[in-house]
Parts: sequence; structure tokens; C-alpha cells
Amino acid sequence: MKEEQLKHLWWQEGVIYQIYPRSYQDSNSDGVGDLQGIIKRLDYLKWLGVNAIWISPIFSSPMADFGYDIADYQDIHPLFGTMADFDELLAEVHNRGMKLILDLVPNHTSDQHPWFLESKSSRDNPKRDWYIWEDALPDGSEPNNWLSVFGGSGWEWDENTQQYYYHAFLKEQPDLNWRNPDVQEAMMNVMRFWLDKGVDGFRVDVMWHMVKDDQLRDNPPNPHYEPHMATYEKLIPAYSTDQPEVHDIVHKMRAVLDEYDERMMIGEIYLPIQKLMTYYGSDNNGAHLPFNFLLLSLKWEAQQIASNVDMYEGALPDGGWPNWVLGNHDQPRITSRVGSTQAKVAAMLLLTLRGTPTIYYGDEIGMRDVPIPPEEVQDPQGLNMPDLHLSRDPARTPMQWEDTNQAGFTDSKPWLRLPDYFRRINVKVQQDDPFSMLTLYRRLIKLRQEEPALKIGDYIPVYSDNQVFSFIRKSGDSRFLVVLNLSHRPCYFKPKHHKFTGVVVLATFPERENTAITESISLGGDEGILVRLDA
Ligand code: GLC
Repeated sequence: MKEEQLKHLWWQEGVIYQIYPRSYQDSNSDGVGDLQGIIKRLDYLKWLGVNAIWISPIFSSPMADFGYDIADYQDIHPLFGTMADFDELLAEVHNRGMKLILDLVPNHTSDQHPWFLESKSSRDNPKRDWYIWEDALPDGSEPNNWLSVFGGSGWEWDENTQQYYYHAFLKEQPDLNWRNPDVQEAMMNVMRFWLDKGVDGFRVDVMWHMVKDDQLRDNPPNPHYEPHMATYEKLIPAYSTDQPEVHDIVHKMRAVLDEYDERMMIGEIYLPIQKLMTYYGSDNNGAHLPFNFLLLSLKWEAQQIASNVDMYEGALPDGGWPNWVLGNHDQPRITSRVGSTQAKVAAMLLLTLRGTPTIYYGDEIGMRDVPIPPEEVQDPQGLNMPDLHLSRDPARTPMQWEDTNQAGFTDSKPWLRLPDYFRRINVKVQQDDPFSMLTLYRRLIKLRQEEPALKIGDYIPVYSDNQVFSFIRKSGDSRFLVVLNLSHRPCYFKPKHHKFTGVVVLATFPERENTAITESISLGGDEGILVRLDA
């Protein structure tokens, strides 16, 4: 659909910024970030130019999975503050004209949630069916072969009631039974509680896990499994995830959002493009933005990325809005994946593609994965599979604000260590440096907001080979050409069927700006340019 035909909403035009609250800003000297800390940094986010903030879970939790194990969906964990702090945060975000997106974790609760405590108390408790309880097989073994994402079996034996319960993640995170209408209603009421407060949307955790096969059939083996992979990868989760009935649930959640004005829902979904698209729902009555993790999962190769961008664009349903992600709290950081110079090209890609970009905190200053010594590892995924290097701690380290002690994050000992070089790589140092990553992010965001072609315009692929990826963004007569060298070696951009003239308005090496483009373009390794084309 052409952009002119659509009315665009804030979550289509805006840039989303993800905050991992433990690591953003500590305000009470306990070494863990909190809500008052975030409030203190809102002016920074306004300055950066982002429009919406998504905060990873801040709710009551035993913290077995750092807040993704929730014991009360309607209360704030004291580590992060109080409900009054939350209300203040929401008001302060709104005062600045920004939006606030919360993390909703509907697939599982904590094993300390009162619902689960009741459910496990006896087989005839009214909440027994709120979770997935099953008898052992005749030999006493698990009901089927399903595995936990965090290692080992997905089933945990309960001695007291002599049944197994299913947990896709830790045993401290029992999966809810979404086939039970009371579970559905309870979670919809959780949504209403936050929507009534004025929250602008949710990022829904592991949306594709929410419903399981009703016959609990065994998952098939994965022929591509290799020993360096997580044990979960041994099987293809054909029956434990992405079941057809999940779409009814997503639709019901959407209907709750639609009771309010302009609220939205992002779905966390790791699935191939064709399957991902089904989460937009028939007639777009599903998730507003099923998270698109292509840039996280593909090899950083121009041709691969270009063809997948085209496939993704081509697969979008009518009226389905695209989105792009370079990093999150579960994945290695982009700077560590592609190198700090290439990470600037990645930033240019993220912020010039068509669709809502999500920036992971710290990526805007090129934070790298921080090595955490084995005895300091905190992430259960890392602790459970120690030889596989799967800890997510390195991408969750404290935000590097300045070159004072503990980088301005805290004045006590941070919950995860800072890298030795934080005095060199931090917000303060980069804020006034015209060549910094932060300046590049800020300028890209600003230009994107100012130019309809970049914000909402059409995407037109131009040319790609094993080094270059190029495309045009267009709105009316205004056209921008984006040329990115995704390799470290110099290259030429000389598409056969086009002749472009224009001026470079933004470049990863800013010295290139304001130069005219007439003939072929040569690019240095790790270089990206944004050209305003002549009308
Ligand atoms: C999602 C979260 C991840 C968490 C898991 C279980 O993938 O992003 O951090 O561990 O769900 O809730």
C-alpha cells in the first residue's frame, strides 16, 4: 500500500527505545537501576529524539529470571520503586510527549505467584487447570519430550500432587494454561489495569509460546542441531510453540487494546518470515508490531540482508506495518557482532529502513558485550549451560553515562560490572563529539523525524551485491538514497540501470557530507551514506 493512503499513528512514526531497568540508572545506591533513575534520564531520551520507551519487567518477582518471573502483575518490585514512582514516571514520560510501553509476560508466572501456589496445593483446587499439569507416563517419566529453553526437561515433578507441570523456561516459571477462559480473563484484566493508568502499550513476552498442542505430542528432532547449540535446539518446537489457536488469544488481547485509544502491542516472536506475518492477524486484528528479528539473526552479509529485507517487505499483509530491531536484552550487542565501525552502518540501516525501529539502550553509544567472569555470572541461561557461552549478562551491563566512578550509573557496586574502558565510551564524552556513535544516532533520528520519506515513505530496493546494500525511501517528490557498505573493504556502487544525482546529507564518516553525487559512488569499508536525491 502506498504511504499516502494511510493515516500514521505514533507507533508507526516513532522510534522505540528499550530500557533494561536494572541497568539504566540507580537512584538509591543499591547498585540496581530503578524507576526514579529512569525519570532522571528522561531528558536525555528526549534529547536523543526517541518517542517511546519500552521497559523490561518492573513487577513483583523473586527474580529467578530477572523479572520475567512475575509474582504479582499489578505491583512494582521494591528494587525498582513503588507504584507512586511508576505513576510519576508515566506522567513525566507523557509530559515530554513520549509514550510508555510495558512488558507483559502472559505465557508464564513465577512459581511464587498466588495462582500457582493455589494450583499446586491440590489436584482439585479451582486453579489447578490454570497451569499445565499432566500425569507421568507409566514408567514415571515426563509426559512428552519437550525441553526447557533454559536447559533440561520442560517438565517438573510435583511430589505433593504426583503430577508434572510444564515450564518452557525455568522451573520457577510455570506456563499458564491459555486454553482456560479464566486465565484469559485474568490476564486481560491485568492489561486493563495498566491501560486504565494510561500506559500506551505492551511488548508481549514470548507470544508464540502461549498455546501448546492439545494432545501434547512429542516434538521432532532437529536435524541441524550441533553440540555447541543450546540443548533446547535438539528438537523442533513444532508442538510446544506457534499453535494455530494462539491467534485467537492474540486477537482477544488486541480487542482489549482496542477498547482504548491508540494503544499498541508488540509481540516477541522468533519465527521465520512467513510465520511471523500470521501474528498481524487476519485483517490486522492481531499484534500491531510482531517483532522482526531478521537483523539479529541473519549473518551480517549485504546480499543476505538485502534479500531478506525484500522478502519481509513483500510478505507483509496489506496495512501491516514493518519494524526493525538490532539488539535486545537476550542477544549479543550489535557492536560486538559486527565491530564498532560497522555498527555505525548498522545504525544507519536500522534508522533508514521502512518501519518502526527499536533501539536497545546503550547501542546508541556503541556499548559492547562486557565479559563477566564465571563467578559473577547471574543469568540463569548462562548458569544452566555453563560450557555453551549463552549468558545474557554481557549485553545487560550498566549504562555508561560518564567518566566518573561507576560511570554515573550508581555510587555503590553495580549488580553487573562495567568494562574497563567506560571512561572512554560513555554518553558524556560522545555528546559533543561530532564523530561519535551517539551523534550519529541522534542525527539519524532527527532526520528521520523531519523527513516524511524516511519516516513513513515507500521502500524501493535499488541494488545489492556481496558488499553493498542500497535502497531508496520516497514520499511524493522527496527521495533519499541509502548506500551501505556492509563489508570492511572498499567497494563501488554503480547500479546498471540507474543514474543518481544528489547530495550526501548524512554519512558514517561525516567528512563526506555535503558532497555531490553524480557518477558512480566509491565507499570505504564500513561506510554508509544517505543521499538526498535531486528532484
Ligand atoms: C523472553 C525474554 C527473556 C526471558 C524469556 C522468559 O524471551 O525476552 O529475557 O528470559 O522470555 O520469560
